[in-house]
Amino acid sequence: MTTSEHLDLVSPQSRANAYATYAGLRAEAPISKVRMPTGQDVWMITRYQECVDFLGDYHRFKTSPTVLPEGVEMPALPEAVLRLLGGSMGAIDPPEHTRQRRLVQSAFTPQYVERLRPAVQAIADSLVDGLLAADERTFDLVEQFAIPLPLTVMSDMLGIPREDRDRFRLWSELLLSLDPTSAQSAPQGMNPAEVMAEIEKFVGYLDALIQGKRANPGDDLISGMTAAEADGEKMTDDELLKMVALLVVGGLGTTQHLIGNMLLALFRSPDQLALLRENPDLAASAVEEMLRYHGSIEISFPRFAAEDTEIAGTPIRRGEMVIAVLAAADRDPERFPLPDKLDITRAQNRHLAFGRGAHMCLGAPLARVEGQVALNTLLARMPELRPAVDLDDVAWRPGLTLRGVVDLPVTY
Ligand code: HEM
Repeated sequence: MTTSEHLDLVSPQSRANAYATYAGLRAEAPISKVRMPTGQDVWMITRYQECVDFLGDYHRFKTSPTVLPEGVEMPALPEAVLRLLGGSMGAIDPPEHTRQRRLVQSAFTPQYVERLRPAVQAIADSLVDGLLAADERTFDLVEQFAIPLPLTVMSDMLGIPREDRDRFRLWSELLLSLDPTSAQSAPQGMNPAEVMAEIEKFVGYLDALIQGKRANPGDDLISGMTAAEADGEKMTDDELLKMVALLVVGGLGTTQHLIGNMLLALFRSPDQLALLRENPDLAASAVEEMLRYHGSIEISFPRFAAEDTEIAGTPIRRGEMVIAVLAAADRDPERFPLPDKLDITRAQNRHLAFGRGAHMCLGAPLARVEGQVALNTLLARMPELRPAVDLDDVAWRPGLTLRGVVDLPVTY
């Protein structure tokens, strides 16, 4: 066991070097105690097998902080944030988690999502049409492609009018900016009161949207969820609101950053970019490798030890917070030969980018389709696509939860 209380994980420089920092921790021990920017100490697991065991063990490690010892409390969250995300599916444990997950699972099976591929392709094509029609041949790949693609896919899927997409983008960014690992200022220079006022508007918007769908159901996911039943029970309005908020928070920034990270990784590995251009059929395997190599979720949700226990021989006290560092596990040389090499033909690639166990990413099949469509569309329709800046200068998003570049100027 090591204790790394003074480890810098959040400065812009350390964001750029995160993989090297994690490699250092992983080489020293499977689990280390690290002080977060909030001042809170957490256990970080950096080795693959220990992460797998931990994520699968929802008896000893709970996502809901109900196992905190007496006198220890989590920082209080504002009312509107609690309404949206407090006790959402990501923060509850089986068996209640299992019931809620069953109510949405059918909309995210690989078979169901495969049927959405033509619609995802049409959205990607129309974004590229717009870019090709512009006079300017240099554009920001993040702002003009990686953000609008998942935003439009998600709006259509949930049955949100496309004209409301920008508000959804703002709301999801605001919720993400509250990430305690980020110490990030809110977008557009908003002050905390303005942020809360917007988040309250999001609650009001979702309340009205859900009531509207209950009264006039359509052919969309929210309407489907109003009717879904598991164990003879339907979702309450409150559960539905939290589920939609979780999908918005979980499905936008993650996919956006996967797309940015993929292009960055390919630009840095010209042999792999050439290989993919010549073999578009490698897109599925390339996306898996990019998820492993540059996944967009760096750390798991925190879990809390339900009892005094141990991980790899290190004692963990009841109530202590533990995190699986997915980005570190996916570069563990014990599991992945030459882990720091991008190899889009890698065969043994059971990465942890989507987590593992009960909370494994619900949206993984959708993220995969979006990633594959994004890659193939950009490379096929912009054969000369290349970076327009020095790749060492790209800025990484602050915070540990989401890993991705803030912008990526490109030209074609
Ligand atoms: C590249 C894109 C994505 C990545 C890397 C990613 C990653 C993850 C990870 C690692 C977890 C589990 C966290 C943990 O156990 O601590 C998770 C959970 C989740 N993800 Fe994703 N995700 C992505 C895209 C999406 C999309 C597109 C959606 C929705 C449409 C989504 C919805 C969710 C939900 C609802 C959960 C919680 C599941 C549960 O608690 O049962 N994700 N995701």
